[in-house]
Amino acid sequence: MKVSIEHFASPIKDFLFLFKAQGNAALFLELGLIGTLLILIAILLKIFSSKNVKTEQPFATSPQEEEKPEEEKPLINNVTIKNRKPEKKLISLKEEKPEIKVETEKKVVIKEISRSPKEIKKYIDLHLHLDGAITLEIAKELAKLHNMAFKAKNDRELEDLLSVPHTCKSLNDFLNCFELPLSLMQTPEGLSESVRLVANNIQSHGVIYAEFRFAPQLHTDLGMTQEDAIKAALDGIKRTSLKVNLILCFMRGEGNEAQNLETLELARKYLVKDGGVVALDIAGAEALFKTKDYGHLFKKAREYGIPYTIHAGEADGPESVKKAIEFGAHRIGHGVRSFEDDELVELINKKGIPLEMCPTSNSITIAIPDMNKFPFIDFLEKGLKVTLNTDDMGIERTNIVEEFNYLETKFNLTYEQKKIILLNSVDAAFTTDEVKAQLRAELGF
Ligand code: ADE
Ligand code: ZN
Repeated sequence: MKVSIEHFASPIKDFLFLFKAQGNAALFLELGLIGTLLILIAILLKIFSSKNVKTEQPFATSPQEEEKPEEEKPLINNVTIKNRKPEKKLISLKEEKPEIKVETEKKVVIKEISRSPKEIKKYIDLHLHLDGAITLEIAKELAKLHNMAFKAKNDRELEDLLSVPHTCKSLNDFLNCFELPLSLMQTPEGLSESVRLVANNIQSHGVIYAEFRFAPQLHTDLGMTQEDAIKAALDGIKRTSLKVNLILCFMRGEGNEAQNLETLELARKYLVKDGGVVALDIAGAEALFKTKDYGHLFKKAREYGIPYTIHAGEADGPESVKKAIEFGAHRIGHGVRSFEDDELVELINKKGIPLEMCPTSNSITIAIPDMNKFPFIDFLEKGLKVTLNTDDMGIERTNIVEEFNYLETKFNLTYEQKKIILLNSVDAAFTTDEVKAQLRAELGF
């Protein structure tokens, strides 16, 4: 329907005529009629304009963009990655975020002005396996230190040796990838240097505090004792400016009870509140060696006053997480499969137990077969103390920035939510209240 401006002329004319020619009573009656007429015209105009204005969808992504072919993507450390698993196409430092796809130049300008202060530049990583954090560059440095030569003919081949194959079907497959990095960390120099190099690498990504975990019993192949390994790692954290604490891991498995007990005693001996060994954990094949069988180790740890996190709900289901909680875990490594049990999620929430979540890792080990169902945002919105971490950045070819970008790209994680996650990490860190206060100040929100 078309509304002409001429429709306004007649009532105005009428009004002026009446004002001059009629008494007050008749004038009010006429005014009422004219008012009604004007309201009707306004309604008609509104209908007209809403039919002609298109609804904008500034955040919609085009199908072509979602289907972009895979291509080489430079990471922060200049390592080039290829052939990622399909869902990991979404992880990239350079990748456009959905909101950038806007239709007019004016909006882009507004966006840039409002976005720049909202970039997260500082991070915390609470779940980082030292042997899983050996990147191509670090591996080359460690090989040089040991005068070792790799079988690989070039960087591409070496990176393929260092990282998880695309045939990985489970955590068990994944755990076979640690042989090569571990072979570079069997001397005090190699272990100390790996701590320093990993710390410097993640510092370059913006990490301001990290907890490195490692199993001392996996560093004894060439004659180091577990204690030597701990001393070497302590030496490494002294040689970096990054704030790093250490978590000692027990290993799930058979025939290593004595080694686990030794780790426990050493944790007791070296335990500090900050600046060294601050906690215990258990790593390894959770589905094969169940959490329920390790209660005695954590009972002792509790008696000794050693804080601990427990890998649970990664390769095994909610029962494993329930056991970890029963054993008094201060944090849960992953805990992602808790989503299979609503009551368990409520329990974790009620107890305020932080979850150390690691999406790329869960995708690769197929802890979560369909990453659309990754429950991070759900947990966050329910109020669980979720934190975001890398797990094994070298083996998985990721880093903390990519983990945040992944959640932003795939689940629209907001800036405000990122802040909550990082503040959760500060609260959950195995360190002193003073250091936590410093970290909050450094994060600046
Ligand atoms: N060791 C290294 N990465 C691990 C993981 N994701 N789960 C259990 N043990 C590990
Ligand atoms: Zn882990």
